[in-house]
Amino acid sequence: MQEEMNMNEKDKKIADYAMVCDLVCQLSSHISEGAAIDNIMHLFRTICAPSSIIYIPIVEGRPFEAMTFPEHVNADAAAADLIGNFKDDYAWTTSGKGFRLKIKGRDALLGLIEIDGLLFSEYRNHYLNLSLTIAGALGLSISNSRVYQSLLNVNSQLEKKTHELEQLNCILEEQVRDKVNEIRQNEQMLIQQSKMAAMGEMIGAIAHQWKQPLSALSVNIQDIKDAYEFGELNSEYIDNIIRTSNEQVGFMSKTVDDFRNFFKPSKEMAVFNVVNSIKEILSMFTNMFNKNNISVRLHYDDAGNLKCTGYPNEFKQVILNIINNSKDAIVSRRAKDQKAHFEGTVKIAVHNEDQDIAVIISDNAGGIPEAIIERVFEPYFTTKPSDIGTGIGLYMSRTIIETNMGGRLTVRNTEDGAEFKITMNQGIL
Ligand SMILES: Nc1ncnc2c1ncn2[C@@H]1O[C@H](COP(=O)(O)OP(=O)(O)OP(=O)(O)O)[C@@H](O)[C@H]1O
Ligand SMILES: [Mg+2]
Repeated sequence: MQEEMNMNEKDKKIADYAMVCDLVCQLSSHISEGAAIDNIMHLFRTICAPSSIIYIPIVEGRPFEAMTFPEHVNADAAAADLIGNFKDDYAWTTSGKGFRLKIKGRDALLGLIEIDGLLFSEYRNHYLNLSLTIAGALGLSISNSRVYQSLLNVNSQLEKKTHELEQLNCILEEQVRDKVNEIRQNEQMLIQQSKMAAMGEMIGAIAHQWKQPLSALSVNIQDIKDAYEFGELNSEYIDNIIRTSNEQVGFMSKTVDDFRNFFKPSKEMAVFNVVNSIKEILSMFTNMFNKNNISVRLHYDDAGNLKCTGYPNEFKQVILNIINNSKDAIVSRRAKDQKAHFEGTVKIAVHNEDQDIAVIISDNAGGIPEAIIERVFEPYFTTKPSDIGTGIGLYMSRTIIETNMGGRLTVRNTEDGAEFKITMNQGIL
């Protein structure tokens, strides 16, 4: 009989340890703290059939809401008693039919558990020993699960932040796009404005261009009267006068067309002949330069080879800005020094430079003072009185060449004047 009891007790111990092993296996996987406690409660109920179990999680020294079995156990009162009256690692309950344990993991207190009303309280020593083993495994599992949970939290916060960053990035990209568009539009407006600023000079230039054909026409008209008086008004004379008058009118009308075309902004990039563009702009302003006693010379190697892709009208405007500055510099140098009645010259040289086309514009007006040469491309930088200069000519020119046409515009002083260099890709669309 005694032997039979010993055998039963031995079997029971084996079964108990088997269950603990099973529990340890379950705990070793990533389970949540709640699921681990559920498992433990289930295990205790199976092993020692208690009348109540209460578990209080402790996080960073502070107790949290208790979990109880059965659910209607007065959780708050039991928890207050458990927290207030439990100093050692384990103790017997006041009823003497159970025990309380501290669950620890990595030296921190993680929870308190009380198992009371054991069905076979005479085995309480055995159950306590077993429970201390379980508490060790449980402590480790809870501490792992908390670390895992905090990692998950950090991860989800990171994901949230990444998402926020992505959204911010999108908004920023949009804002940058809007700003770039705004700047482009402003630049377009400035380009147009700077053309308008040149308008006054152009009207003067048209007047100059028209002077000669107008006086030729006036001579023709006077001539008709004389011919009539001298009886020379035959059909051959009339044909001749019509032809020469038409030539003058054609020239005048071409001048107007040239200016009108120049004022239209180029809508699209196009392949254009650099030399022809320069010739066109020079022919529109020859008389203005002549009037100021300035000779403009154009040199180039092989015009047919000097083609670029870009905006031809804007390119012409750049050439005009630069040679206008040379004209102003020559006129002002003469005004400062009455004896300086030198012949003003502007040289324009166009040639291939590796894959690029270089346009070099130089004058003999004395150059740009070294103190300001770095600043001449800044918007609104001018040394001229406000009725002559606004300071946007070179800024616009650089924007046109570098931002809109992908080239370079630089300046340096030579021995007798300033030299501007435009480099553009020898492009074919
Ligand atoms: N060829 C040059 N010789 C000497 N100084 C020059 C020359 N070209 C430009 N500069 C200097 O650079 C400054 C800026 O030129 P920019 O063309 O940008 O403006 P601006 O001619 O003063 O006014 P605008 O807007 O009417 O062109 C000029 O005021 C002048 O001081
Ligand atoms: Mg200028």
